[in-house]
Amino acid sequence: MKIVVIGTGYVGLVTGACLAEIGHEVTCTDNDARKIETLESGGLPIFEPGLEKIIPRMRKEGRLKFCSNPADAIAFGDAIFICVGTPPLPSGEADLSAIDHVARLVATEAKSPKLVVEKSTVPARTGQELKRALAVYARKTNVTFHVASNPEFLREGTAVGDFLHPDRIVVGVEDQTAEKQLRDIYGPVLERKFSCPVHSPACPDEPLPAWVVTSINSAELIKHASNSFLAMKISYANMVADLAEKLDADIEEVVRAMGLDPRIGPAFLSAGLGFGGFCFPKDLQAFVHLAERSGVDFALLKEVEKINKRRIDRFFEKIRGALWVVRGKQLGVLGLAFKPNTDDIRFAPAIELVKRLVAEGARVRAYDPAAMEKARPELAEVEYAKSAYDAAENAEALLIATEWKEFRDLDWNKIRESMARPLIVDGRNLLSPQQMKALGFEYLSFGRPS
Ligand code: UDX
Repeated sequence: MKIVVIGTGYVGLVTGACLAEIGHEVTCTDNDARKIETLESGGLPIFEPGLEKIIPRMRKEGRLKFCSNPADAIAFGDAIFICVGTPPLPSGEADLSAIDHVARLVATEAKSPKLVVEKSTVPARTGQELKRALAVYARKTNVTFHVASNPEFLREGTAVGDFLHPDRIVVGVEDQTAEKQLRDIYGPVLERKFSCPVHSPACPDEPLPAWVVTSINSAELIKHASNSFLAMKISYANMVADLAEKLDADIEEVVRAMGLDPRIGPAFLSAGLGFGGFCFPKDLQAFVHLAERSGVDFALLKEVEKINKRRIDRFFEKIRGALWVVRGKQLGVLGLAFKPNTDDIRFAPAIELVKRLVAEGARVRAYDPAAMEKARPELAEVEYAKSAYDAAENAEALLIATEWKEFRDLDWNKIRESMARPLIVDGRNLLSPQQMKALGFEYLSFGRPS
């Protein structure tokens, strides 16, 4: 099929590249001309493993194009995937102006019927507004549109694998034409009829993805409800970790046993500095607002958010408890991205943490394998280290803020020797307390006996 993707951020670029990979002809457009220029000249505006292989190959095979003129892009496709940003307004509500802008663009430029697929994360009932807006803006052309919601469940860092090997594909539709078109689009993924170009968690005997057909309103709700539920699991684990600390229990032992119950499951129970990124914090806020506007007090989720914000305070208490005075101390920070395998620092707990350390007068030397370039404009007062070893040199404490695998495998003897004081405060429970103690470190983490 001929498909247009509007918006070339994380979601749009992964969607466009993967739709081309499974056999479609795709044109991606964006109103940021610089992004399109970068892509056209062979660069990548984001770091997402797998895209560096797929995009050049798809361009060479002529199945993936980038185009800065939205009218040309819209004329090209039968289906249009809306992948524009829905950032939070100061109130926490989702800003839907980019969706409205795209609706106007599509309605005025389209000369033939189109399937318009909403992939951006939006509050429930946005699809209804989108349908209305398309009809209003297209009143002069009389072109008809089928609207569908197809929420993404892509995790940064594994988004390509998540797209090509999903556990479910949710399509919110109101007519059979839309469902049929979406089934054709996702056919190769549903039947796994393509060779996966990147390593993915999928294995051959893994079940095929579930095809979940719902109303548009339900599909939108599924996305917000899923992300908020995962955020709730994390905050829950964090509270149990605080309690485990007081009771001299071990959070790792507790969640391991909890996770063996299939009703609970093992994922998203890692205690630490809490969740960040451009999805969980904003989706949670937008969901609470949606509930409020609908007359439902979702106090449970307000608490999830509060617990998450307090994680940095808890981390700080540990640092202060160990260092006594923070002002003037040389501190190493390992990790700036909101999670490993990404250079994304949006709403990263690590960034908030470093800002607080700097505000308290600490001298910070930070290292991240991928996110330092993005952090520089945010954190100007920080010294950037060449390596994790460089960050630890002469430090009075080494703080772990992102759980990059390479940090686990460091030569900790070398680090201990180079530090002014061998103190580690592990905000992600990345290392083993027993091993660190045996290596001669003072070691603090969340919810585990120190
Ligand atoms: C998330 C959803 O997982 C994805 O389905 C959705 O479409 C987009 O939002 P992402 O933002 O890439 O994906 O991050 P994710 O891997 O879900 O992690 C979110 C945050 O939670 C990270 O900051 C991570 O460090 C934190 N986290 C995760 C924990 O603190 N504990 C955990 O147990 C799991």
